[in-house]
Amino acid sequence: MSTLYRVDSSVQGDRSVTREITDELERAWSAALPGGVVSRRDLVTTPLSPAAWTDALAAREADEPTPDQQAALGLAADLAGEMLAADAIVIGAPLYNWGVSGHIKCWIDMLWADPRFAPRTYPLTGKPITLITSCGGGTSPGAPQHGWDHSVPYLLHTFGTVFGGEVTHIDNQLALADHSPAMAHLREKAVELRAQNRTTARETGTTLAELAA
Ligand SMILES: Cc1cc2nc3c(=O)[nH]c(=O)nc-3n(C[C@H](O)[C@H](O)[C@H](O)COP(=O)(O)O)c2cc1C
Repeated sequence: MSTLYRVDSSVQGDRSVTREITDELERAWSAALPGGVVSRRDLVTTPLSPAAWTDALAAREADEPTPDQQAALGLAADLAGEMLAADAIVIGAPLYNWGVSGHIKCWIDMLWADPRFAPRTYPLTGKPITLITSCGGGTSPGAPQHGWDHSVPYLLHTFGTVFGGEVTHIDNQLALADHSPAMAHLREKAVELRAQNRTTARETGTTLAELAA
């Protein structure tokens, strides 16, 4: 049975752009592969605690791990197992305060705590990962805030270079154009970009389903 593993991390509920685009990919994948399974992890509705990460790290050093430390290591194993079991992975990752969301960071730290994600093991080699990011402004070359996005480089490095996945990046920008008077001249461009990204997500979902069939 082919599995799409979907990870969400937006705190903006129904207003979330990453969830909207991730939905699009999931719908296309399910339509093209009716017998496929979608498994989900919502890092906001079921957040991971940094305390669990501390315990998972300590468990690896301890001669006799405490029950909390054992549970944390078990959680890290579950999270790593979910990634390894998937045929395709889609991750919604918003930009908050010019960085990666705390929800995503804690999840990635927990993955690292599992021995199967040890450095230089490239556990996701060959696995298709679609990274869907969204930011309020514009961070492309030439934009005033070019270089301020410290989330996307970290995520591409982690899932591609370090974990070895085959990353497709769908990058939504200008999400706040509708709300910011200073961005009024960018509203049309924002609408175009969002529509284009939804289309790319649909196409990616269909292609991934065909590969998994
Ligand atoms: C708490 C918070 C912090 C944000 N910080 C930034 C920021 O530093 N730079 C930026 O360009 N947009 C920022 N934004 C806008 C988000 O990046 C934008 O709304 C994006 O669509 C977030 O993805 P989401 O809609 O899936 O939540 C922020 C939004 C929120 C709610």
